[in-house]
Amino acid sequence: MYFAIKLFPVLAPMKYMQDQPRLNAQKPSSFFKDGHGMQQPVAGTVARGHLPTATGTQDESAALVNPLPRTKEIFAVGRQAYKNRCEVCHGAVGDGMGSLTAAYGAKPANLQAQQFRDYPDGKIYWAIVNGKNAMPAHAADLSEPQRWAVVHYVRALQRAQNAKDEDLKVVAP
Ligand code: HEC
Repeated sequence: MYFAIKLFPVLAPMKYMQDQPRLNAQKPSSFFKDGHGMQQPVAGTVARGHLPTATGTQDESAALVNPLPRTKEIFAVGRQAYKNRCEVCHGAVGDGMGSLTAAYGAKPANLQAQQFRDYPDGKIYWAIVNGKNAMPAHAADLSEPQRWAVVHYVRALQRAQNAKDEDLKVVAP
């Protein structure tokens, strides 16, 4: 083989893997019970990035817990996603006064309202995934972590407009 390759460099040094028994796509196979070579994914298989966390009703989603820590990096992701996907309707500070509001006809929720400050994270998350009334669903636009990062960012907007005394404390450098 060594000399053969020297003479004919196109020869594959080893053909074992090429010659192994294998099953071509769409071919039958007696190995599986249903006789198909290609098998369906196992029941309950979830495509990457498509975890169905927010199935069910909005109330059922209330118990969902934001899995992301509140770090600078995550706020940056949330801020970017909010600016790209939410700000036109909900406004830069979340008060529902986005630039699209007048033309849009529908009234985007004022996320600064007490109702939404009291809202559990899971219900905001649900609204992002499923949309609500005139609000379009954003499941296809935002990945799972981006959605939760937006939830953190909405919380930051709410806190920024309703600062507590402790927020004014100067943090020692
Ligand atoms: C095209 C405009 C539009 C965009 C973009 C949009 N929203 Fe909305 N949003 C609305 C409207 C309109 C409502 C009010 C729906 C209703 O009738 O209750 C709403 C309602 C909400 C509510 C309240 C849901 C509830 O339970 O009442 C939340 C929370 C919210 N939006 C968050 C977001 C976030 C976060 C984004 C970005 C990922 C976003 N929205 C993007 C228009 C929009």
